Amino acid sequence: MKGIILAGGSATRLYPVTLAVSKQMLPVYDKPMIYYPLSTLMMAGIKEVLIISTPTHLPAFENLLGSGAKLGMKFTYKIQEKPVGLADAFILGEDFIGDDNVALILGDNMIYGSRIERVLKAASHLKEGGIIFGYQVADPTSYGVVEIDSEGKALSIEEKPRVPKSNFAVPGIYFYDNTVIEIAKSIQPSERGELEITDVNKVYMQQGKLQVIPLGNGYAWFDTGSPDRLSDAADFVKAIELRQGVQIACLEEIAYHNEWISKEQVLEEAEKYKKTEYGKYLKKIIEQDFKQYKAIYESDLFDAGQ
Ligand code: G1P
Repeated sequence: MKGIILAGGSATRLYPVTLAVSKQMLPVYDKPMIYYPLSTLMMAGIKEVLIISTPTHLPAFENLLGSGAKLGMKFTYKIQEKPVGLADAFILGEDFIGDDNVALILGDNMIYGSRIERVLKAASHLKEGGIIFGYQVADPTSYGVVEIDSEGKALSIEEKPRVPKSNFAVPGIYFYDNTVIEIAKSIQPSERGELEITDVNKVYMQQGKLQVIPLGNGYAWFDTGSPDRLSDAADFVKAIELRQGVQIACLEEIAYHNEWISKEQVLEEAEKYKKTEYGKYLKKIIEQDFKQYKAIYESDLFDAGQ
């Protein structure tokens, strides 16, 4: 499966901060925002990622992330001339996707939870149709809202409904089979002039092929598109990182655990960041051999502790 990060848009809800800086480049506590969605794709086991942004901001992402080789990955970059909607990512990404399945994540979405890696890996093995998530929020009116049956099949899905049929907001991470390219080409722009991801999901739903995974209490989901939400996400990252002495969205750690890079490569990066907690943490994961816990995390013992 391939991955796409959509990091475009004009981020008007964050003006004047985003007048000259890309939203997805803003810090969420101690890392650029795009690290978080990138780490999510990596946890799903996705190695090849297309990063889409505006003509102005794309070069900054290339400077930040490079070819991906340092993470044992491969990054491709593509300009989106105008913010014409999330589903445009599959049209822009047609050549990149080729014959593969694809996951799309929005550059301002952050998901955290102890079991998230398992959930993402399972979703990445999708054979047919689409997999999306449902996350209970108090007020879902500014999101896609999905209603599900007892087996997780979508019954209805609406974009920013005034009267929501459920409290399940749809986070900005989506897994699809290859037909998503043709589906994206077939839908019409909405009233706000965008190719809506919700309309793509509706097509899968009508085919009876839209699976929804509800993310329960043990997960945190933030979209960081407004000052308050951005600050909430930063507070959350700070609280976990300081309390536990861990790093959220530590790209080299995930690459190392996925066995995409060696100990030596991690240590090389640690040296570069040695004045930061990030760098110290990278050194720590090698010295303390955190990998020894991997077997426990993947065992029933870990389930019992949940
Ligand atoms: C977009 C999607 C919406 C989804 C949300 C998640 O909203 O259209 O369905 O719930 O991302 O962040 P937008 O960012 O365009 O308001």
